[in-house]
Amino acid sequence: MPVGTQATVKGVTAAQLRETTATLPDVTAQMILGNTYHLALRPGHELIRKMGGLHQFMNWDGPILTDSGGFQVFSLSKLNKIDERSAVFHSHIDGRKIDLTPEYSVEIQESLGSDIAMVLDHVIALPASDEAVIDATERSVRWAVRSLNAATRSDQARFAIVQGGLNETIRAQCARDLAAHPFDGFAIGGLSVGEPPPEMYRIVKATCPHLPEDKPRYLMGVGRPIDMLEAIAEGVDLFDCVMPTRNGRNAFAFTDEGPLKLRNAIHKDDPRPLEDSCPCPACQHSRAYLRHLFVTGEMLGPILLTIHNLTYYQRLMHQAREAILAGTFLELLERHRALAAPKEM
Ligand code: GUN
Ligand code: ZN
Repeated sequence: MPVGTQATVKGVTAAQLRETTATLPDVTAQMILGNTYHLALRPGHELIRKMGGLHQFMNWDGPILTDSGGFQVFSLSKLNKIDERSAVFHSHIDGRKIDLTPEYSVEIQESLGSDIAMVLDHVIALPASDEAVIDATERSVRWAVRSLNAATRSDQARFAIVQGGLNETIRAQCARDLAAHPFDGFAIGGLSVGEPPPEMYRIVKATCPHLPEDKPRYLMGVGRPIDMLEAIAEGVDLFDCVMPTRNGRNAFAFTDEGPLKLRNAIHKDDPRPLEDSCPCPACQHSRAYLRHLFVTGEMLGPILLTIHNLTYYQRLMHQAREAILAGTFLELLERHRALAAPKEM
């Protein structure tokens, strides 16, 4: 899922976004992610509801998943206090005090009209004591059940979020506790917050066996191509990450030969496209031209690289699906392990 925090996948139109999957035969409409926290603060979920809901507001007719605010409260706001009832925080925009209960997060997401709503969870900074991790994890389970009970829309799916820090036992217990309730899917949260990648893989591996086989699994906020492939190997289905869009704006292009930093002088007279086999509009141009756009600060540079990177990510996930069906997924994984090995990004 490309990230569209503020009701826009930064730099691209809905039509351009749709085009990033146009050459993939198994994809008709890809899901994007929107953020409860940001949209409730600006322009306000009531306004979006009045404008016909988030799909109509941003002209995206594909599926939308909205995050609950749990992670943004933790990462962006001035958190005031968190107790059993709610997370009280001050807006990072105007300092306004907001009392975010699990029920209120459901109400906001129902106003937005997303296809999948995430439950409000309690995310804590790591490292933390086992006691603190257990406390936040058990609260996240209680909040997940409250969210389920508060839901009124039958046309919106609800995903629970497994927490539990870097402790495999707490993760497994949380997954089993959540799996006892009729959620439509299960996310793994609280990762990609600065821990080394092998730690993240270890937790994903310890969590997946405790989730239902027949419901989608979503690893939140991940990640690099190799991270997604490692997680797919453990049974994860769904990802969101700002990496293709944010890195694209910073002149960083993903390719099957490894990343390219387009500001680098070695590209200044290179006539080749980023990738020969890429059908995206950026790859109609030379690396020399794309570098020129960044060096001169032209807005087309970030736009084109965003489109290329989104196309790359969609094609990579397509390759993973095809490889699973063909029984060759481990070869794809090994190829990307070799690519990622020399230098961690
Ligand atoms: N995005 C990335 N990680 C998380 C998480 O742990 N919880 C929520 N709600 N969103 C996330
Ligand atoms: Zn391209």
